[in-house]
Amino acid sequence: MAELSADLGFCTLKNPVIPASGTFGYGEEFLPFFDLDLLGALILKGIFRKPRSGNPPPRLAETPAGVLNSIGLAGPGSEKLQEIIRRLHAKTRTPIIVNVCGEDDREFEEVAEIFSAMAEVAMLELNISCPNIKKGGACPAQDAGHTSRLVRRVKKVVRKPLIVKLSPNTADIVGVARAAEGAGADAISLVNTFLGLAVDLEKRKPVFANTLAGLSGPAIKPLALKLVWEVCRQVRIPVIGMGGITSGRDVLDYILVGAAAVQIGTVNFCEPGAAVRIIGEIEAEMDKLQIKNLSEIRGKLQA
Ligand SMILES: Cc1cc2nc3c(=O)[nH]c(=O)nc-3n(C[C@H](O)[C@H](O)[C@H](O)COP(=O)(O)O)c2cc1C
Repeated sequence: MAELSADLGFCTLKNPVIPASGTFGYGEEFLPFFDLDLLGALILKGIFRKPRSGNPPPRLAETPAGVLNSIGLAGPGSEKLQEIIRRLHAKTRTPIIVNVCGEDDREFEEVAEIFSAMAEVAMLELNISCPNIKKGGACPAQDAGHTSRLVRRVKKVVRKPLIVKLSPNTADIVGVARAAEGAGADAISLVNTFLGLAVDLEKRKPVFANTLAGLSGPAIKPLALKLVWEVCRQVRIPVIGMGGITSGRDVLDYILVGAAAVQIGTVNFCEPGAAVRIIGEIEAEMDKLQIKNLSEIRGKLQA
């Protein structure tokens, strides 16, 4: 039987499958579907200091191979999330990762400090790449200098491994990844959603109030895989890859280009049990291809 454990350097996950932030609620919603202990880890929906209502509707638009979203990071605020995490932790031993958000650098720091202090939280993911907060999709991960300053600031106050989540909406993702690494990131995750546009032909207006929205799902897999490959070749810290994963084979593709683990996002909306199916498929695929463990193929793409 194939060995599925995923080595992140600072910890080992029992398998490489992690539901992505914003597509798995606050974990509890998925308890009726499967045992959360089966997951490598799980990431909660992004959180700010105070409750947020997010963007006005519509917030989702389907595309032929994915979805555009403009949720705008609606959420209950950090106090309420701490209660949710305590409840969730009582029901699962799977490592819980908090997706930390901020309107400015100070808020990122504050929120990171709050959740770093919780024993129930295993790691933090710094969401410096959400395209749906500011009009035009601007975010810190579009700029290497800003990324470096922000990661350095947050690292000073946290005592938990810090994963920095990157945006595909930049001309130099490798430069930003290197900036995050240089500032002390323990790992990098990529990608957040690609900026896209949907229009209403009758009204001659954009579908979304913010004009632009974030594209995810199978449509982005080749684009995301390329970015993960490029970043993996240029940084030493572990990389968690994501974008359009729907099968065990997709997961192995990301491992082959160098990812240490993966996140699965949009697929959770179409199929709440997708994570468990995908974990089973990885094992079957590895047995078929006679791969004994993930490190045997990690980063072994011959290109
Ligand atoms: C509805 C929706 C909400 C999301 N919310 C968050 C979020 O709160 N924080 C975050 O870092 N990423 C968020 N994302 C991005 C996903 O975590 C992931 O990076 C992206 O969807 C690409 O993976 P996928 O193609 O497997 O969905 C969201 C994505 C969707 C579709």
